[in-house]
Formats: sequence, structure tokens, C-alpha cells
Amino acid sequence: MAGLARLEYRGYDSAGIAVVTADREHLAMAKKAGKLAILAQELKDRPLPPGTVAIGHTRWATHGAPTDSNAHPHMAAGGRIAIIHNGIIENYASLRSELEAVGVVFSSDTDTEVAGHMIAAEVDDGKDLAQAMRDVTRRLEGAFTLLAIDAREPQTVVGARRNSPLVVGLGDGENFLGSDVVAFIEYTKKALELGQDEVVEITPDRVVVTDASGAVVARAPYTIDWDATAAEKGGFSTFMEKEIHDEPAAVADTLRDRFNEFGKLKLDGGLIADTILGSIDKIIVLACGTSSYAGLVAKYAIEHWCRIPVEVEYSHEFRYRDPVVSVKTLVVAISQSGETMDTIMAMRYAQQQGASVIAIVNVQGSTIAREADAVLYTRAGPEIAVASTKALVAQITATYLLGMFLAELRGNKFPGEVRAILEQLGEMPAKIQRVLDTAEPIRALARSMAGERTILFLGRHVGYPVALEGALKLKELAYIHAEGFAAGELKHGPIALVEKDLPIFVILPSPNGPGSLHSKVLSNIQEVRARGARTIVLAEEGDEVAAKYASEIFYLPEAPVLLTPLLALIPLQIFACELAGAKGNDVDQPRNLAKSVTVE
Ligand code: G6P
Repeated sequence: MAGLARLEYRGYDSAGIAVVTADREHLAMAKKAGKLAILAQELKDRPLPPGTVAIGHTRWATHGAPTDSNAHPHMAAGGRIAIIHNGIIENYASLRSELEAVGVVFSSDTDTEVAGHMIAAEVDDGKDLAQAMRDVTRRLEGAFTLLAIDAREPQTVVGARRNSPLVVGLGDGENFLGSDVVAFIEYTKKALELGQDEVVEITPDRVVVTDASGAVVARAPYTIDWDATAAEKGGFSTFMEKEIHDEPAAVADTLRDRFNEFGKLKLDGGLIADTILGSIDKIIVLACGTSSYAGLVAKYAIEHWCRIPVEVEYSHEFRYRDPVVSVKTLVVAISQSGETMDTIMAMRYAQQQGASVIAIVNVQGSTIAREADAVLYTRAGPEIAVASTKALVAQITATYLLGMFLAELRGNKFPGEVRAILEQLGEMPAKIQRVLDTAEPIRALARSMAGERTILFLGRHVGYPVALEGALKLKELAYIHAEGFAAGELKHGPIALVEKDLPIFVILPSPNGPGSLHSKVLSNIQEVRARGARTIVLAEEGDEVAAKYASEIFYLPEAPVLLTPLLALIPLQIFACELAGAKGNDVDQPRNLAKSVTVE
């Protein structure tokens, strides 16, 4: 149950466990719709018999509503077999018809249950569970992590994976399987990754990995470099608050010791030859959700520093529109979890077209990190709250590092210029800390705005992705209608939304520096104020005119314009978190969401 609690970020529509007990014919099971706490209560009211081999699951519904009967595990063979599943079995409908034709009765609407009945048929034929799993997974299409137990093999859990993650935790007289190492970090820091289409069989003292044909595969274990306390709240009442407060460290750790003595970026794995990086003619950033906004910030920085065109595209759109990709394309896949299925698929597609892929990923050893040609880890530590905060600032930092490295490699910047930007970047963690230390007024404002129905966000240049993220956070956490706009676009349509007292956040650029858009954004503020809007302005310290344009104003430390998203994002994250809290929402587990979306 503790492991499931840590995995609940993956989905929290329903939860269940199945346990091998002394009864060699039947497993014991409990499953309930709703969050894990409801299952915990059920187990208190109706405890399961004791056992030491069990599987458990938290669900994010795809096929079948979040009900008790659709919750996992799913039983087969009259309660002898139980399975859990992450992913989607795409050919489940035809498999289900096949099974129904021979009299199998289904007790759920899920795609998962077919796999359970198929495994049951194989073990009925006398196969052991691992062999049954291999034979069944061969017939499944789509993405899955499957785990199964059999009352007649009381010491064994068998797992398989295709496209979805599965990690083995290696203990002393005990072994574990999880979709993420957080599930077992409390018990062991030694882990082992499973490859595509591999099957693993664990008992308390043995772990055997086989490929689809049944041949044993040797896999080297690795050590997880953070401990269980990193995945705890550390005195904060929610993970999100804790993670926002981790942001100075997330940026500082991501920057630490990144360039070698020859000015070469130290990657965390893999390699893309300098000759390739020197000859690329385009960068495509692929990502989803909040991570895609790191890509949008990167576009401004990398195009400016490196003079290479940068396209930013949602992973799920990219693969389906015949994109122009070649060996001269560098793909940057950005993902906190490293498991977002849309991004995995888009990355693979780009690789098939000959592109090199560099991954910016937070979770060590995740699928995107392993499959990319090279990986640059963000060192944000485990991010548990479903809506991303500290991972985003770490991702933005990592894209700056990549941009500076490419700029020097390709001769767009002298080493001294790169060092100067690095130094400015090095000052950002302390500046972020100052934003956190002075955030009480933004919290108070958030609490007073819990009744608002619509809030808009405006920004230009790098302030534009900040506006988009400000709006996304508010939707995700507070369930308020929020939209981010490029401030210049406002007059081309969205201004029709503006009415008296509508709150509008504006990210105002610094008045200093060449080509500052300060006066342009002030004009945009005038346009909405003239129509009655209430403007909440984020301005740079020392900006003397900004206050005249603001109903409320918050000042941010001065920073080079391309680096300002690292500061401007913070008050917007705090605002959304606080407002959601004031509404009584669960900020760590907002409704309908999951942290890593492992289905397409
Ligand atoms: C989900 C999460 C978002 C996240 C997105 C991309 O939708 O709720 O917070 O930004 O996935 O996830 P990734 O792990 O690829 O960054």
C-alpha cells in the first residue's frame, strides 16, 4: 500500500491489490473505485488474509469507467490468476470476441481483462506463468506493462513490458516490480531495467529476465541516486508546495559541473558526434503539456544564440503530419517522466527518419532516456505532484545548456560569451529563492480570487510561454477557465472576452536592454484596462512606470531577458497552487489527470 501511495501520481481513479494466500486455488483481492484512501478503508473494514506475494495497481481509466469492477487486478481461472496492467491493448475487442465465443464471461469493460483470461487458458494447458505470459504477450498489440500471479505458483510474480515501463527492485530475500522506482525505493536502491518485450519472473531470491523467445537476458543493475526522503513532503502540506520550494535546488543541480575543460557539454549518457551537431540545419523540440513550454522558451534562446531554426511541436501532432525530418535534424525530446507515450512514439518516428535525438529527461533510466541517442538529465529530483513545477524550471535550464553548447560548437559564440551567460545562469537559483521568499502577497491575492470564473494571462517573447503555463497551471489545479495569449495577438480576437473586472495577468518585460518589448506590452495593458480589465502585473524590480498600469503589481529580480521565465513562472505556480488550495481542491492529484500519460 505504501508503494501504491507513491505511484498514485500515475492515476487515482481506482485501486486494488491481489494477494497469494495459503489457499492454492484462489487469490484474495480487494479493489475499489476512487483514491487509494478508499481502498485502505476497505482493507481495514474487511482485511485480506495474510500473504507475502502480492500485486497492486492504481488506475487512470482509458477503457471502462472508473468503477469497482473495472478496477485492477482482474481475476481469471475462477480466482486462480490475477493480473494488473498499464497501457492499452489495442486489439482487445477481437480478442474479447474470440474468448466470448468459447464461453468466457467477462466481469469488466476493460481491455485488460482479455489478457487475464488468455493467461488462464495457457496455464490450464500446463504452462508455467512465465511461459504463459510470453505466449500471451506475443498476441497483444499496443502498449502494456502486465504483472500476473497464480495461486499455484505462490512464490512468483511474472511481469512483461512493451512500450510501457517496468523496473525491478533488487532486495535481500525480497524482490519488487514497479512502474517507477518510487514504488520500492523505501526497500532498495538497487534496480534493473527491463527491455522491450522482455518477461521477468521474480521470487524472493531470484530474478530471471527472458526475451520473447524465452532465452535468458543478462541485465546489469544500477543504483538509484536519491533516497526515499526526496520523495516525501518534508514539512510542507502538499508535494506541490514542496516541489515549488525545491526549484532553486533543481536549477542549481541541473547546472552543476556541466562543461568539461574543453568547453564541451557533459552529457549523462550516449553521444551525438560533433560533426553531426555541427551540420544540423534544424531543431525540433517534441514534448507534451508543461514540458512543451520548456521547448517554447528554448526556441527563443536557441534561435538567438545559435541561429538554427527551432520548431516546437506537441509529440502527438508530430508523427501524424508527415513532418520534414532528415539526418540534419536534431530532435530534442523533453519529458519529466521519460515515459509519455506520445513523446516516445514521436521520438522513435524521428529516429527512423534519420534524425539524432537528445533527450532532456528527469527520471533516470526511463524509456526516453534509454532510447535517445544522448541524454541530458534534469536534476530536479522526484516530482510527485501531478502538475509539473520544478521539472519545468530544470528543463528550461537544460535547454539553455544545450543552446550554449551548440552556440560554441558551431562558432556562433566565443567561449568567453558562453561563460558570461553561464555565470548569469548561475545567479538564477538565488534569484528564484528571492521570489519564493517574497511570495506571500501573491498567496493572499490567490486566496481572495477563489471565486473567479475566468482569468487570462498575457506575455510576449519569452513571456508568452510563461503566460501559457500560468493558464495551464490554473486549469489543472483550480479548474478555472484560464487562457494564455501572446499579448500582441489580443487585439486580433481574444480582446472580445475582456469585460469589467476580468482579471488579467501580464508578464511585463524589463524596460532595459536592446529591443525591449516593455512599451509594446504597456500598450497591450492599456488596451485591456480601457475595457475595464483588472491587470495583475509581474514587472522587473526598479521598473518605475509599471505600477501605473497595474491593479496589483509584483516585482521580480532583474535578469537577462532570455532567462526571465525561470523567475516569472514561480509566482504563477504559487498563485495556482494557493488558489486551488483555497477552493479545497487536491493540488497534488487534480481530477481527471495523471502524471505520466503512458497511453497514446
Ligand atoms: C501529464 C502531466 C503534465 C506533464 C505532461 C508531460 O499531462 O499531467 O504535468 O507536463 O504529462 O509529461 P512529461 O513526463 O512527458 O513531461
